[in-house]
Parts: sequence; structure tokens; C-alpha cells
Amino acid sequence: MTTTTENLIIRRNRTIGPHSPLFYNEPLHLVSAKGVWFTDIHGDQYLDGYNNVPHVGHCNERVLRALMDQSSRLNVHTRYLNDRVIDYSEQLLATFDDYLDRVFFTNSGSEANELALRIARQHTHNKGVIVSDFSYHGNTITLSELTTALHTQEALADHVRTLHIPDMDLETREEAEVLRATLAELDGMITSLQDAGHGVSACLFDSLFSSEGLPRLPHGLIAGIMDRIHAAGGLIIADEVQSGFGRTGTHMWGYQRVGMHPDLVTLGKPMGNGQPMAAVVTSESLLEEFGSANMFFNTFAGNPVSAAVGEAVLLEMRDRDLMEQARIIGASAFAALNDFAARYDFIRSAKGVGTFLGLDFGVDGAPAPDLAKKVVESMKARKVLIAKIGPHDNVLKVRPPLAFSAAELPILLDALQASLDEI
Ligand SMILES: Cc1ncc(COP(=O)(O)O)c(C=O)c1O
Repeated sequence: MTTTTENLIIRRNRTIGPHSPLFYNEPLHLVSAKGVWFTDIHGDQYLDGYNNVPHVGHCNERVLRALMDQSSRLNVHTRYLNDRVIDYSEQLLATFDDYLDRVFFTNSGSEANELALRIARQHTHNKGVIVSDFSYHGNTITLSELTTALHTQEALADHVRTLHIPDMDLETREEAEVLRATLAELDGMITSLQDAGHGVSACLFDSLFSSEGLPRLPHGLIAGIMDRIHAAGGLIIADEVQSGFGRTGTHMWGYQRVGMHPDLVTLGKPMGNGQPMAAVVTSESLLEEFGSANMFFNTFAGNPVSAAVGEAVLLEMRDRDLMEQARIIGASAFAALNDFAARYDFIRSAKGVGTFLGLDFGVDGAPAPDLAKKVVESMKARKVLIAKIGPHDNVLKVRPPLAFSAAELPILLDALQASLDEI
């Protein structure tokens, strides 16, 4: 580490504090980025195989132009009429199923999930929430009280139940038995919420179950969850912060891939390519019910600059056919990961879909987080950035910008092969 980098860490600790995590044994000190490449303080280039926020590429020209044009014209909140936010709303809503035709804008995924839960609570007059047993949906008090994937001081709230999402890649039981047992567990949770007087307001899931380590779900699980939550009077909230905007390669929204019919959909991360933008998409009836009973205002959300940026992201996706690119690259990457899984006995399975992929490491039937960490560090030494996920931190996380192209894939796979060989 250079003294400049060491000094920066000291200054960082003295200002934003040492508890905000940094990746890698020796943190990366970055100065710029373009497309899918970072440049660090030494002028070294790193391939970004991790970041989903710069969806259409770091410092994308079209996004920058939209940001600058609109910033030099008008930036104001939603209490004045302006075309920009309505144009964008129409374009965004056109990507959803017909019944999801209204949008509330927010600035972060946390705010979006908080608002979705609030809408669900008011609609159902219930408080109970069901999430998975290793998930993260944001950092407000309400969301901290249902966080299971990160360390928080808040205990799980009395009105929260956590469902274990099974992974068929790790199961020894028959698929039908896994499905039956999981849905029976869910039935028990619904009954316990009702008995405790909370009732069911919502279930909140990321359809890729990314924090959970990208499990391969038993067929029928999503349909079974939906039926039971709706029968109990609750709403389905699809958290698309990770799985949305074409990430899966086949569908614009992750919920569509798994056949979910959500009542509320929350968006974030890639929406503004780095501009803080998020939203709750819902139906006219839910918007009417909530909007007429609450004056909802958000100073920064839905401003024309963010709308211009959001529009540029959608246009870039469309004109460069990035979702289709993710499908093609995802398929070849997944095939390569499966080859690795067949070749190295410490890899239990290849995970994921589209360009959200991983490798599950295990030794003697136990998860192997040390190996995952070694590979992540070794990839960094080869100037390719990835990370790890899962309840045991043993699943590699490969989730590059959607702009990641066929030209970069061999670089990532070669580095991965060399890192796996090293183990
Ligand atoms: C699935 C999911 N939902 C919500 C959030 C919270 O989003 P934000 O950090 O924008 O508040 C995150 C953040 O990592 C997330 O991964």
C-alpha cells in the first residue's frame, strides 16, 4: 500500500469512521472509471465484474449528457408541472405488466421498501411481514427490524417471520417434499402472525434471492407463497433492487421470470446509473387508496434531472439491446461455470441466471467461505473484481454492469480459471 493510500484510510477512519466496510485485504484506491473498467491510483485497470449500479456502464456518455442538459435547464421537486418526470414515468411503466401502472418515486431502495410496507400496512390493516431468513431490504428502522442478512442492533420485530428458502442444489430430499415442507413452514408463520394479532400485511422477497446465495428454487414455491399470502389477505412486494432492469437476461423484471404477480414492486440501484433514484410501482387502486389518505411528498425524488437520467438508462438499454446481451453472455458464462463445477471438487454448483452468477464452494459437505475469499482476492490480483454472498459467505458473486460485453467475458473467465487453479 502506498503512503497516499494509507493516509487516505487514516483520514477515512477519522471522518466517516472505520465501520463502513471496505472490500479486500488491501483496499482498492480508485480514481476513475469508464464502461466496465476502473482505473486505480497507480494507473492500473480493473475489470468490473461486481457493480450493478453503473448499469449501462460507468460514466456513460448518454447518461452524462442527459444529466448535464437537464441540470443546466431545470431541477425542481414535483410540486410544479414539468414534462420530464411524466415522460419518464410513462416509459418506465410501459416496461411493467399492464396492471402495474402507477409509480411513487423515492431516492433509495430502503425508502422504496419502507413506503411499500407502509402502503401494505394501510391497505390490509395488518402489520405482519414475512421475509427470507437471509435477506436485506434496507436500512430504516422498519427494515432493520426485518433484516436477517446483516448484523444490526435491532432485534427481529415481533411482527416479522423469516422463511428459509431452500436450494435444490444442496437438497438431498425430493423436490416435492422440499416444496411441501417449505410451504408448511409458511402456513405455520401465517397462523402464528394471525394468532399474535398482527395478521399478514405483506411478504417481501427479492425474486433472485441474491443475499441468500442464488438458491435454485423448487418448482411451485413462488406460486405457493403467492397463494398463501393473498389468501391471508396480505400483499406481495417484489424487491427488484437487485433483480430488475433486465439483470436476468430474459425479463425486464425478476418477478416476471418466476411467475410472480406482485402488488407492489420496489426498484433502485441500477435505475439511475449512480444518480440516487428508486421507486415503488403499483396499481391504480393501491395508489388511490394510499395517495388519498396520505400526503406523500419527497423533496428530491422524481426531480427532472433524475428523470432525464432514468430515461437515458432505459434508452441505452433499448438501443444497445443490453438485456439480450446479458442473456447471451449469461448463458455462456453459466456454461463455463458449470464446467468449472464439474472440474474442481471444491465447487458444489454453478449459481444464478443472466448476469447475476456465482459458484458455491464447499468441502466435505460444509460450505467453504475461506476458498471463496481466496478466489475473490486472487481475482483482484489478476485485476478482475468480484465478491461473495450467501448465508455462509461461500458463494462467489459475479454481477457486472449490464454493459459487460462478450469482449470482457474471456478476461473474467481466464482470471477465474487461474484463481481456481491456484487453490
Ligand atoms: C435487495 C435489496 N433491497 C433493498 C436495498 C436497499 O437499497 P438502498 O441501499 O438503495 O437503500 C438493497 C441494498 O443493497 C438490496 O440489495
